[in-house]
Amino acid sequence: MKTKVIKANARSWNQKLKELSYIIKQGGLVAFPTETVYGLGGNGLDAKVAKKIYAAKGRPSDNPLILHVADKKDVELLVCDITPLERKLMDAFWPGPLTIVFPKKDIVPFEISGGLDTVAIRCPALEFTREWIRACGVPIAGPSANLSGKPSPTTVEAVLHDMDGRIDAIIDGGVTDIGVESTIVSARQNKIIIYRPGGITKEMLENYASVELDKGLTSSFIPPLAPGMKYTHYAPTSPLVVYTGDTKKVENKILSFINKKDKKYGFFVSEETAALLPEDAVVFCWGSRNNQQQMAHRLFQGLLYFNTNVVDEIIGEGTSHTGLGLAIMNRLTKASGYHIIVEST
Ligand code: TXA
Ligand code: MG
Repeated sequence: MKTKVIKANARSWNQKLKELSYIIKQGGLVAFPTETVYGLGGNGLDAKVAKKIYAAKGRPSDNPLILHVADKKDVELLVCDITPLERKLMDAFWPGPLTIVFPKKDIVPFEISGGLDTVAIRCPALEFTREWIRACGVPIAGPSANLSGKPSPTTVEAVLHDMDGRIDAIIDGGVTDIGVESTIVSARQNKIIIYRPGGITKEMLENYASVELDKGLTSSFIPPLAPGMKYTHYAPTSPLVVYTGDTKKVENKILSFINKKDKKYGFFVSEETAALLPEDAVVFCWGSRNNQQQMAHRLFQGLLYFNTNVVDEIIGEGTSHTGLGLAIMNRLTKASGYHIIVEST
């Protein structure tokens, strides 16, 4: 199969919209940009398409897919009911990087929901992506457009790397803005539970109700509420170890690897630490350590960087668990296979 790349919002976009929505109506697959990462889209009401998506990603079929809608009102067709708290969250954060888990109606096939009675729904922020979903006339099932277990793609190049020849088309919307996936929550019984930390932070959600983090995210004994969180994920080809905690100690620890000759080390660090590394070191700098937005934005690009700039081991620098840091540290924890070392004061 030849994978077409079509620029979003470019000349003759209306014509392109017709072409891209026709592919979906015919049961095909189109990767699409969102404000978080690229998704791998197909008709979210078609069980056969769900199977195609799982096959293209090499993903286990018990891991449910998120449905993307163009407008808030489109949720009603898909869910049994909407709680007042869910409504408040939709009004506050949609369109945007918040996914809400609802009890599903029969119209949503179990192949999409991974056999669950619930369905996860979000309304992505990019206007041209919503325009395309509207043109498709169905909700779009959209897992991240990477091969299962690999970092989520934030660029067209990264989507092509994993999906070229496996899908019909890619909508090119440039580099995605946030860089980590949406926050997934349930908001029943007047309580918010975070299934996956992401673009909308715990602190932002606390303005609406009490917020708990799914215990399955931090314990290896309790299964996570989002089935996908149990799989290893985001792994770069070389092992990654992340140092976090006291800034000065972390910096010293990272610098101590410069003179170690047992292995070839690569460094995935802040610009403050990068400035202290020798010029010939293999370094991916994710921006200032005081700017978590920049770090999230470049996180997956950084993990992919070490697939082409190959080293024996990647030494990473972590961040705090507050704000976007919760999502960043969750991804780094998985990418490193829980290899997080805390340098305490
Ligand atoms: O930002 C995002 O959310 C991106 C963009 C493309 O929208 N999508 C994304 O999808 O990250 P995916 O499939 O890579 O991750 C979806 C996660 C998985 O961990 C899955 O287990 C969980 O959502 N999930 C989906 N439906 C669920 C449900 N009904 N209950 C619990 N977890 C669910
Ligand atoms: Mg994913």
